[in-house]
Amino acid sequence: MMTDLFSKFDPLIQQREQLLATGVTDPYNLVMEKVISPTVAICNGRETILLGTYNYMGMTFDEDVIAAGKDALDKFGSGTTGSRVLNGTYQGHKECEDALKEFYAMDHAMVFSTGYQANLGIISTIAGKGDYVILDIDSHASIYDGCAMGNAEIVAFRHNDVEALEKRLKRLPPEAGKLVVLEGVYSMLGDVAPLKEMIRVSKEAGAMVLVDEAHSMGFIGENGRGVAEAQGVLDDVDFVIGTFSKSVGTVGGFCVSNHPKFEILRLVCRPYVFTASLPPSVVATAATSIRKLMHGSNKRAHLWENSKVLHKGLRDLGFQLGTEEPQSAIIAVIMPDLEKGAMMWEALLDEGLYVNLARPPATPAGMTLLRCSLCAEHSIEQVGEILGRFERAGQRVGIIG
Ligand SMILES: Cc1ncc(COP(=O)(O)O)c(C=O)c1O
Repeated sequence: MMTDLFSKFDPLIQQREQLLATGVTDPYNLVMEKVISPTVAICNGRETILLGTYNYMGMTFDEDVIAAGKDALDKFGSGTTGSRVLNGTYQGHKECEDALKEFYAMDHAMVFSTGYQANLGIISTIAGKGDYVILDIDSHASIYDGCAMGNAEIVAFRHNDVEALEKRLKRLPPEAGKLVVLEGVYSMLGDVAPLKEMIRVSKEAGAMVLVDEAHSMGFIGENGRGVAEAQGVLDDVDFVIGTFSKSVGTVGGFCVSNHPKFEILRLVCRPYVFTASLPPSVVATAATSIRKLMHGSNKRAHLWENSKVLHKGLRDLGFQLGTEEPQSAIIAVIMPDLEKGAMMWEALLDEGLYVNLARPPATPAGMTLLRCSLCAEHSIEQVGEILGRFERAGQRVGIIG
């Protein structure tokens, strides 16, 4: 008798079928038929404002970024067909790592093919069997997967709770290897971590600290280095992880560090060694974008403005939001349940507005969320338009009065 290895997916298949039976459009099957700018695309034949792309700084259509990508495509070809440690390190990979070192003012930078692989690789390589990874319970999947791959002991603490972190650290053997893993901005609710206090208690306990700044790079902090910069503690962070798939506007991941032995990771980190490196056009767009982000303070100011206007507008309309005040470029709108959430998502799409629908298990506390992520290229008029669409859709679905 063969056991069908797919039977474990039956509950999810049923849940999906039930949802689609209500007649709602599949929220996880949307096609961008044409992308006009960082903030507008054609979806289902209709012009749609994009409010769920994590394209925070709108670099995807930057003229210099596109020109650099085209030039590299012409000069270096479409792909490297190899690992960074064999034939896959081109001039462009080095330039991209140099741009990152300069952006963060750090000694070392290592570029991975995705941010997922950066977390997977760095965490699994530095925290092995017998070591402890102490992490926020709401950490990204790539952080959990890095822990599992390295076989480290996972110690989770309550979301953004400094005391809980301190308590967990005190219970661990003093001589054991410890890595505290934090995120600058938590992407589900768009809230920021109290990194300053958390890093202080971590250092007191002799732990090394890794901060994933995926959702803050380019935007938060005076130079866009992230929440650790904004809270004045970047010098105390041992490893910063980031991605090119949000503010940088392409694909890829990285780790920057001042650790004197950092370069050895290039030989021992499996998700770095055993995969092909990024195409030349991608590293060229990333390097150009990162260099431009160093001078992005006007865009950063405009993005904060957008975030504040949208947060206040949604709250005034009567929506329940993930944070009391806007803390990042993510604003999460809390839905009563998955069915209403999916209906609201569809009603917004009918209005010509795309947001992300997030549901358990990815979300904390079983919540269904409409996650809005703002872009520095959204005009203030577009933000006004977005609020009007939320109002009409919210009334139609019966979420607001
Ligand atoms: C906190 C966090 N870390 C890492 C990643 C992975 O980044 P990438 O899209 O480059 O794989 C993401 C993106 O979803 C993220 O939100």
